[in-house]
Amino acid sequence: MPTASAQQPAVTFTVNDEPQTVLHRLSPEGVPSDVSATTSLADYLRLHQHKPGTKTMCREGGCGACVVSVRVPDPATGQPVTRAVNSCLVPLHVCQDWEVKTVEGIGDRRVGYHPLQIRLAHLNGTQCGYCSPGMVMSMYRCVYSHRGVVMSMYRCVYFHPSVVMSMYRCVYCSLGVVMSIYRYVYSSLGGVMSMYRCVYCNLGVVMSMYSLLNSKDKVTKADVEQVLDGNLCRCTGYMPILEAFKTFGEDADDKMKAMVKDIEDAVACKPSGGACGGGGGGGGSRCAGCPRALPMAAGEAQWSLPDSMAKLYAALAAVPAGRSLRLVTGNTGSGVYKRDGPFDAYVSVLKVPELHKITKSSSSVSFGSAVTLSRLIEELQSLSETAGFRHCGQMASHLLVVANTPVRNMGSWAGNLMIKYHHREFPSDVFLLLTTARAKLVVADASGASMEMNVEKLYEIGMDRKVILSMTLPAIDDNKYTFMSYKITPRAVSAHAYVNAAFLLPLDKSSMVITEKPTVLFGGINKTFVHAAATEAYLTGKSLSEPTTVKGALAALQAEVKPDEDPELADVEVPGRVAGPELGLSHGVILHVLGDKVPAHLRSGGQELMRPLVIGSEKYDTDKDLWPVSKPVLKLEAQAQTAGEAEYVGDQQPLAGEVHGAFVLSKVAKARLKTVDGSAALALDGVRGFYTAKDVDGPNQYKGEKNLEELFVTDKIQYCGQAIGLVVADTFEIARKAAALVKVEYSDVERPVLTIKDALKQDPDAVKPDTMMQLELKTGGDAEEAIAAAPRQVSGEFQIGGQYHFYMETQTVRVVPCEDDQLTVYCSTQDQRDVHQTVARTVKVPANKVNTEVRRLGGAYGGKLSYSTPVAASAALAAVKLNRPVRIVLDIETNMEMFGGRLPYLIQYKAGVEESGKIQGLTMRYICDSGFASSATTGFSAVALSQNVYHPTNWDVAPGHVNTNLAPNTWCRAPGTTQGIAGIEHVMNRIAHELKMDPWELRKVNFFTPETKFPMSASSEWDHTVFKLMVDEMFSEADIEARKAAVSKFNRENRWRKRALSLLPMRYPVHLWAKYPALVSIYDADGTVVVSVGGIEMGQGLNTKVAQVCAYELGVPLDMVAVKPSNNLVSPNPSPTGGSIGSEMTCMAVHEACQELRARLKPFQGEDKAWVRVVSDASSAQVNLTAHSMSRRKSQTYSVFGLTAAELELDVLTGESCVRRLDLYEDAGQALSPLIDIGQAEGAFVMGMGLFLTERHRFDVETGRRLTNRTWNYYVPTLKDIPRDFRVKLLKNNKNEIGIFNSKATGEPPLCMTSVCLFALQEAVASARRDAGHTDWFDFDAPGTVERAQMACASTPDMFVIA
Ligand SMILES: Cc1cc2nc3c(=O)[nH]c(=O)nc-3n(C[C@H](O)[C@H](O)[C@H](O)COP(=O)(O)OP(=O)(O)OC[C@H]3O[C@@H](n4cnc5c(N)ncnc54)[C@H](O)[C@@H]3O)c2cc1C
Ligand code: FES
Ligand code: FES
Repeated sequence: MPTASAQQPAVTFTVNDEPQTVLHRLSPEGVPSDVSATTSLADYLRLHQHKPGTKTMCREGGCGACVVSVRVPDPATGQPVTRAVNSCLVPLHVCQDWEVKTVEGIGDRRVGYHPLQIRLAHLNGTQCGYCSPGMVMSMYRCVYSHRGVVMSMYRCVYFHPSVVMSMYRCVYCSLGVVMSIYRYVYSSLGGVMSMYRCVYCNLGVVMSMYSLLNSKDKVTKADVEQVLDGNLCRCTGYMPILEAFKTFGEDADDKMKAMVKDIEDAVACKPSGGACGGGGGGGGSRCAGCPRALPMAAGEAQWSLPDSMAKLYAALAAVPAGRSLRLVTGNTGSGVYKRDGPFDAYVSVLKVPELHKITKSSSSVSFGSAVTLSRLIEELQSLSETAGFRHCGQMASHLLVVANTPVRNMGSWAGNLMIKYHHREFPSDVFLLLTTARAKLVVADASGASMEMNVEKLYEIGMDRKVILSMTLPAIDDNKYTFMSYKITPRAVSAHAYVNAAFLLPLDKSSMVITEKPTVLFGGINKTFVHAAATEAYLTGKSLSEPTTVKGALAALQAEVKPDEDPELADVEVPGRVAGPELGLSHGVILHVLGDKVPAHLRSGGQELMRPLVIGSEKYDTDKDLWPVSKPVLKLEAQAQTAGEAEYVGDQQPLAGEVHGAFVLSKVAKARLKTVDGSAALALDGVRGFYTAKDVDGPNQYKGEKNLEELFVTDKIQYCGQAIGLVVADTFEIARKAAALVKVEYSDVERPVLTIKDALKQDPDAVKPDTMMQLELKTGGDAEEAIAAAPRQVSGEFQIGGQYHFYMETQTVRVVPCEDDQLTVYCSTQDQRDVHQTVARTVKVPANKVNTEVRRLGGAYGGKLSYSTPVAASAALAAVKLNRPVRIVLDIETNMEMFGGRLPYLIQYKAGVEESGKIQGLTMRYICDSGFASSATTGFSAVALSQNVYHPTNWDVAPGHVNTNLAPNTWCRAPGTTQGIAGIEHVMNRIAHELKMDPWELRKVNFFTPETKFPMSASSEWDHTVFKLMVDEMFSEADIEARKAAVSKFNRENRWRKRALSLLPMRYPVHLWAKYPALVSIYDADGTVVVSVGGIEMGQGLNTKVAQVCAYELGVPLDMVAVKPSNNLVSPNPSPTGGSIGSEMTCMAVHEACQELRARLKPFQGEDKAWVRVVSDASSAQVNLTAHSMSRRKSQTYSVFGLTAAELELDVLTGESCVRRLDLYEDAGQALSPLIDIGQAEGAFVMGMGLFLTERHRFDVETGRRLTNRTWNYYVPTLKDIPRDFRVKLLKNNKNEIGIFNSKATGEPPLCMTSVCLFALQEAVASARRDAGHTDWFDFDAPGTVERAQMACASTPDMFVIA
């Protein structure tokens, strides 16, 4: 090994055209360096290059926040290749010769924004903005690689002199242009695709830009959906993102393209200020100040980047025996198995030309081992045109659902095979495909000796110091063999297989006889299962068109498949596998092969579930008299967000001496803490401190001293993941490593209680009253008596699981000690007051010594109401102890394990009904699981919503909660309200089933009347009219009756594909209870206005609404109003921001402050007197130009009505489903900011789709550990999961007299309607069950996962017939 001080050659590359040089220094030489052997490109960019536009969240290739574009020379051809990659997975050491472009590098406010940044911002594609840079960079590569398009754009925008000059002019009129565009665009409101109806082209330049976009190579709308498959967004519901980027599509709507170009011209044309081009777009000059070299301490680990086979072998041979070695190609494997390593040596094969080669002959094609999956897909697609390689088309299609685009752009097929080599349980799709396609591998050892083998043989040999060189696909006689492959995934894309399969059938297509032994492979069954050997043997020589063959084959398969119940990835609670998905898949294969030889009603079983490209519409209303209030305006921070300029707490530049914290979490759920030994952690270089409960000077509780939640465990461990201590070190990597070294001993370890049913089993009286509010709904007489007296009774239970908030910016805080013993706390929190008070209490300083500031949050959804507080308090504790700034940014596993999420529910009900469907009496218990503590029970909200749109007679509805050994669960967007509505709607469906009534007809019988009283909120006759109007509009505009008939017909005609069309109404009562301060100041220099408020901007557009209200009230243009970060000087003691009312009530405070200012300015106004004169005259007269106000609790309440119709299609054989069309109507009053409100509706709905369809938590039953703690095993919806036709309409002409400017809350109500997707799925399953002979009611709990749906269809092998 080289000596400690030796330096290796530097890694050189560029970032936004700035040269970078990183030295390999093999020892830290006593000074711990924060660049290590495993430092990622993402960390380098953020921490060392101070380019925070690139975000990180999951650090495993699963979220897309870190995507950058790289231009890399292809070693095989020397030609540069442009790719979007996950910078979190790229080791800095492999970046040799790369040109890295970050979001800052493609455009910014100085040189002008890139069209991608502009369109995403202007078409409302950003809310919290945390995902936006990654989205932009994913698209950048797509557009950039279609060189004709982007290079033309660049030429035009940045370089062409005449355009530059016209752009230069346009800088000064840009606002006017944009505003007139907007005015024009939005003046024709209320129609379908109102944004799309801006049918005008007013500038010639638009058309020239438009034509440039259509030049040469083409990007299509399908490309857009494909390249964004690895970018998650929790806020927007993806609709506006897709719409924005699809404007780049060759097949995009022409008028839309013209309109967006207009906007770009107006805003992209800023001249460069001549600043350092290194950080900016447009390829400006480099400044001398750009960092050039950075020493790298790689500890013991050694990196080599050989560029020839000889050097590769030498590098392998150089690693001494006994030293661990990691070959690296794309390094994406470290996203799946994050904890492999550490390794003593890393050898990257990325620069070896031979390993990138693709060689073709008429009988075979060979791929070097470093060929990426993306490149492989391209080749396979083109090969599929050639005889002998037609099966490659199916292989390519299958690979397109392996991982996601940025992962496939780096990840190699060989790396994939080797992941399975090291982790046999890995459900590798590549392994299945290559094995079935009879691929041959060549493997070499360090001496260069090589051997050829089939894929399965690889798993029998030792691979130490060996390298896969290539893979050869032989030609396969297409006439003789049929190749098929399948993958069932827990969500549409970017997920591992739940079950996958590949088949190679030697088939005589006339007789359908399998002429020789076929290949039948399955993955995801158990660690060792590969070949369905008995099935292969059985099928040999048999005819597939013989019913007995099918029966026998499926019986053989069923007998040999012994699935493991994977606690992390599978749905083990589903009792018994009667006919698992492997049988369903196999039957699908047979139906596919037989094609039209089987009866028509069976054929869809052999077809793939289609997910067409997303389309949609947005309808809303505006009132021009109020503009800019109610005007669809650009979100205030949108442009900065899409350019990566918007700052989040974690983006703040570190101060000298700043250190990082990592928590030590308990590994068991129910035990006593015996000992904690941090000595090994403290001994590590760079560790500055380790703190536990004994170090807390103040009370060790957060959420108030009376509560159970401790900052650090003192004695009794309440859940697995509870904080035991905090390690603080110079870097996060060191802190995390040290945290793992802390030794914790437990005593009295017990098996935990993890579900409501577990709790009830242990103690039937476990249900306790709601601690927030024991709100009960009791109407009429005795409910039990009424039920007993009714002609029909139904009763049952319904469960809804929990949900992780999945904010893209994890819990983040910086605490900076400053003079006079003060602390400044920058925290990503929804509850500034709680953070302020708890920090002061914890470190025992008066409240006036703690300053808090919140600029914006990268998503929150309720998860930053109480859980930012313990993180902030822990950081403050360390900051005081060390007298240093302390930063804590939680990694995703810690974030998911340490904190709870949405409360799971068990809803018990009993109803008595008349034959007409009228409910005579109803009892319901909404029992929620609040985890070990009871400080955020939400059952009372469920009760408040349980009446929904119905007239309650003899109802008795009550909340309750149980405690389990889970992290305390907490508020999550529409908490309790969602389950309240889902519960009563489940009851409606249950009764409809009992009475054999159409579910909607049953609902109609029970609808509220103008006389109905809503005990917990106001009601009015007008409400009844609004609701009726909404129903009528939905039925006519969404063509409900005709579509229902079409669904029934479809179901009659298809045995293995089922559809359903479900409707769900909503009444959401809003209480205006919170208090938010607001300060409005006017500057006498130029009349501009500045506002700071107590409500927190977290993506919901609060700041924009505030600015709109302020501009309207003061009568100034919107761009004269700036909204500054929230802080506890201006806004002491604010309510937490949440519950949909934050924006509305903050606007109320701003409104009041502005009115005060107006009154003060009135004496200085005069006809035609300019605003700035009025202001300066008032200032000269010593008028106070600052006003402070605070929103207060209102006694009134109002209702938000909504209605959704979801049409869904289910693949009965696999359990996969797709929402084909969704119509969502919401009554938002007079929307304050319609684009923002529409965005809220779409985002909320998609978040709810996750709750009801894909997001499922799993726990280790022994330790209570949350197993679903990453993007790999927890599935929030991707853009491929959203409704394929997504229509949102905000009801017109419904002014809300109680709301500010007649508006209504919008953030949460749409989520309350998302159970419609579960109910549609249940209806589709019910149709399949009816075909299977089951007409009985079946419980179908949320989430309705793929596995659950497949099982619930109750298919049995005898049903898999072909005639
Ligand atoms: C978010 C995400 C989702 C994914 N989803 C899927 C999925 O749905 N289905 C699926 O099948 N896979 C999936 N994967 C796995 C993905 O396909 C692999 O990570 C990728 O193919 C690995 O290639 P790599 O070049 O990055 O390998 P690396 O990460 O570089 O290496 C992986 C392993 O292979 C070894 N290795 C690499 N190259 C060689 C070589 N030439 N010779 C010998 N050993 C070598 C390494 O030492 C290491 O042990 C997913 C991955 C991620 C991150
Ligand atoms: S942080 Fe890189 S993909 Fe999530
Ligand atoms: S805007 Fe996409 S995660 Fe917030």
